[in-house]
Amino acid sequence: MAPFAKVGGLGDVVGSLPPAQARDGHQVTVALPAYQKVLAQLGLDPRAARPVGYRVDGREVMGTVQETWHQGVRLLLIGRPEYFDRPGIYGDAGGSYWDNGERFGWFCGATLSALRDIPPAADVILAHDWPAGLIPVFLRAHGFPDDPLEQTASAMVLHNVAHQGLFPGDLAARFAIPPLYGGEDLLESAGAISFLKAGVALATIVITVSPTYAREILWPGYGEGLEDLLLARGDDLHGILNGLDVGSWNPATDTALPRPFTAADLSGKAAVKAALQHELGFRADAALPLFGMVSRIDPQKGVDLVEQVAPLLVERQAQLVVLGTGQRRLIEPLLGLAAMWHQSVAVVERFDESLAHRIYGGSDFFLMPSRFEPCGLGQMAALRYGTLPIVRRTGGLADTVIDLDEHPETGTGFVFEHADAAGLAWACERALRRFTEGPRVLDPIRRRAMELDFSWDHSARIYDHVLERAALREKRRVLLEY
Ligand code: GLC
Repeated sequence: MAPFAKVGGLGDVVGSLPPAQARDGHQVTVALPAYQKVLAQLGLDPRAARPVGYRVDGREVMGTVQETWHQGVRLLLIGRPEYFDRPGIYGDAGGSYWDNGERFGWFCGATLSALRDIPPAADVILAHDWPAGLIPVFLRAHGFPDDPLEQTASAMVLHNVAHQGLFPGDLAARFAIPPLYGGEDLLESAGAISFLKAGVALATIVITVSPTYAREILWPGYGEGLEDLLLARGDDLHGILNGLDVGSWNPATDTALPRPFTAADLSGKAAVKAALQHELGFRADAALPLFGMVSRIDPQKGVDLVEQVAPLLVERQAQLVVLGTGQRRLIEPLLGLAAMWHQSVAVVERFDESLAHRIYGGSDFFLMPSRFEPCGLGQMAALRYGTLPIVRRTGGLADTVIDLDEHPETGTGFVFEHADAAGLAWACERALRRFTEGPRVLDPIRRRAMELDFSWDHSARIYDHVLERAALREKRRVLLEY
């Protein structure tokens, strides 16, 4: 949950959807593990902590719950120092923590215990990605007479089905999950339990973060082995486009930019570009097209395609900046290019929110050639800053970027079909061609992009509608069972 703990886009969504729901008049609670860095930021009084527990290996494993408020949302910090008093969230430089299954399984159980003590009972719980995947399971498998959460519905929210939380099968027994629960075998054939699969199988409904991704994950490859189960869930699977926190992503008020700008007055954007060129050691020349990329360095993101297309960009006098951290084998070739062409290629290997904002603000084009992209927030931020995205037609990218050559009147970027260097090069060539037409042609397109509404307003309404129906379904079920 941004700004407290963030690894990727999920943190942004959990940081901005709940406050939007609270603004709409809902009572919203967010439960998150009491990570070391979260506690350090909040500085809560530990004496106010209440005990909370859940059964692991047949005995009650105890922790604490601490409560505070943030933007109209109740925060529950579910703590157990043995699990969460560590520098990382999912792991550290050495890889994932070895006990993630136990850590997050316990978190799911302890969260339900904490919620049982807070009236009124929740109508619906959203479980975000595999760390929360056992919530829908425990909610049903571990119910008891007069359970306050008996009628509570659950929504498994899929931000990325490529990350499933696969753990040794004995975890199912350690958490007392009955074999073949709910008619589903939650164990994989290899004997592992998939937290995500379990959540998808047993949640009242399943939500994913864009309409196109909701269709894609029904296909082998995109579905990562969950496609049959997802297909079987039929109309219970909903694709709802993420919103953007338009308060913090606003070029008119962004303090990370050397100069603010608006759609009505783009002169500030030119100044931001010049400053960014200077900051990167490039020639500060408005006539040179600047391509930006801000990304996790991961095969998903098509970083290797950017590396293959970089020589073409350099040959065409373009400049390229890549900001991000991640896999060494992907970042090293890029660093090589930057060393060779330091006046036109920059690779900044760190997590730098402020520089990210300047790249969104100062670039002409934003590269996002993802192989798959459940939603993607970068392209929305880029559009809001008048930086035209170059994206592959997949997931949320397909739902948010309109190709300029296909739709000259409404287009906002450049879209290509195939995840290969030729596809990306083709899209970049088209962008370069537009660039040569100058501000007279480009500025109206930038304005059009900046005026799109990516706030949560619209999507939060759809969440309302979908969640209300899920809640009704569980209430009816309980009624009909008696
Ligand atoms: C994951 C996905 C990304 C999505 C984000 C928030 O990081 O990879 O596409 O935007 O979650 O839902």
